[in-house]
Amino acid sequence: MSFDTTAINKLMDKFDGHHSVWLFGYGSLIFKADFPFIERRPALIKGWTRRFWQGSHDHRGTADAPGRVATLTPQENAVCEGMAYLVTPEEFEHLDYREKNGYLRLSTDIIFEDGSSVEGLVYIATEDNAAYLGPAPEVDIARQIAASVGPSGRNSDYLLDLAAALRALGKQDSHVFEIESYLKQWGAGTT
Ligand code: SIN
Repeated sequence: MSFDTTAINKLMDKFDGHHSVWLFGYGSLIFKADFPFIERRPALIKGWTRRFWQGSHDHRGTADAPGRVATLTPQENAVCEGMAYLVTPEEFEHLDYREKNGYLRLSTDIIFEDGSSVEGLVYIATEDNAAYLGPAPEVDIARQIAASVGPSGRNSDYLLDLAAALRALGKQDSHVFEIESYLKQWGAGTT
């Protein structure tokens, strides 16, 4: 089941009046920046870990056969590495639409590689959203991803593009890389 979060996200007024806002991306926002940005920098946020626990009915799957995409789950002492973008507030109209299937804008401290930090935003799909699928063994997640496709393309391309982008940044993510290894064993990404 899907649930449109655009109306709720519009109410997020914390950065109203700012000329620019930092947005932290940890999933497709790392490898598919289809919006203008002023600057981008590798960054991390603390207390969250990346998991393919969110259903995708609108991008990498369908209403009847959802795919699986990344969200963040809270975990003490965890660090999630990704890419931060400095954007103008106008970009959130497009971003809210893109992330509408369960993701809410939350404010967070974003830490850059030089140790400096800034308060910004991240889209998180929490476990109470209607499109949430939750935990499953990596091999089962890989099987679902291998079988799913939606308007934005193959679910396996999302996973493989994310893994490649993390590797290009020099970052590790054992959950993502384990799913990637199953997909590669099964021949995904070769056609
Ligand atoms: C993100 O990339 O930060 C949010 C989840 C997604 O769009 O894949």
